[in-house]
Amino acid sequence: MNAGHILVTGASGQLGQTLARLWVEAPIPQFQFSALPRAQLDIGKPDLAAAVLNELKPTVIVNAAAYTQVDKAESDSDAAYLINEAGTASLALWAAHNGAQILHISTDFVFDGVKPNPYLPDDQTRPLGVYGASKLAGEKALQAASNGNSAIIRTSWLYSEYGSNFVKTMLRLMAERDALSVVDDQIGSPTSTHSLARLIFAMIQKRDYRGIYHWNDGGSISWFEFAQQIKGQALQAGLLKKTIPITPIATSEYPTPALRPAYSVLDRSRALDEFECPALDWKQQLADVIAELN
Ligand SMILES: NC(=O)c1ccc[n+]([C@@H]2O[C@H](COP(=O)([O-])OP(=O)(O)OC[C@H]3O[C@@H](n4cnc5c(N)ncnc54)[C@H](OP(=O)(O)O)[C@@H]3O)[C@@H](O)[C@H]2O)c1
Repeated sequence: MNAGHILVTGASGQLGQTLARLWVEAPIPQFQFSALPRAQLDIGKPDLAAAVLNELKPTVIVNAAAYTQVDKAESDSDAAYLINEAGTASLALWAAHNGAQILHISTDFVFDGVKPNPYLPDDQTRPLGVYGASKLAGEKALQAASNGNSAIIRTSWLYSEYGSNFVKTMLRLMAERDALSVVDDQIGSPTSTHSLARLIFAMIQKRDYRGIYHWNDGGSISWFEFAQQIKGQALQAGLLKKTIPITPIATSEYPTPALRPAYSVLDRSRALDEFECPALDWKQQLADVIAELN
């Protein structure tokens, strides 16, 4: 029996590559799977994208494609909205007309970071920058188009052995430099793409999802604390050959074009309650990625 066809967009990205790998390691019985990079499925080109979708006829679309350059988006907002809003909308319209489900990935940057405790899926959104605003516009476009047959998964501080991310940047800088300064007044939760990919597969297996879910690996730490943990684990694993002093600094000492939420811990309890997905500790998740990089 063919239970359906899963299509992953943005297959060259961190999450896209992780989903493709998980499919090889632990495929979902009776499903077909395709993962297409931008060159084969450009969600910013609705007519071309629709032609690909008509050909493949997916029953579940995992939208891992996104404009993810937070700082560049401040001066490149047309491109950010084209992909994050219009691209998501065109996938959602195709899905609504063809009875397909969508699992769409969004971000903690839809929040302003003033809440003192973890954000719930229904909490008030107020993005501080163009990237967050374009992702929120994508969420709204999806909800408007999708007749309830979709879900949004907001996640934060995503990293993996693939692509570019904070863990890989820190490891490179720790090897190259004699000292580092890292922001200590932005608090959030790291998320391995592997744990997010396992959640996505658990959702597809259960088939019953709607609305907004939050997902992370359960920490509540600053970038400085994350950097310290990366250093410690990399030294222990032999991935880093020398130790390096890391100084905690304030966001005001490291200005960036985009404002970032000072606090963006997401409450993942709804996802844990509804799906068979283990809540592994963020330090263990990091250890697994460090081992992959080694
Ligand atoms: N990274 C984080 O810290 C973070 C945090 C919270 C939420 N998220 C969300 O998590 C999701 C996955 O993020 P990620 O870290 O895996 O991102 P990523 O590594 O930057 O991958 C995004 C992928 O989308 C592709 N893409 C861009 N424009 C496209 C288009 N028009 N059509 C098709 N594909 C296109 C990119 O293709 P190219 O390779 O050709 O550029 C890239 O492969 C995104 O929705 C992101 O907003 C990320």
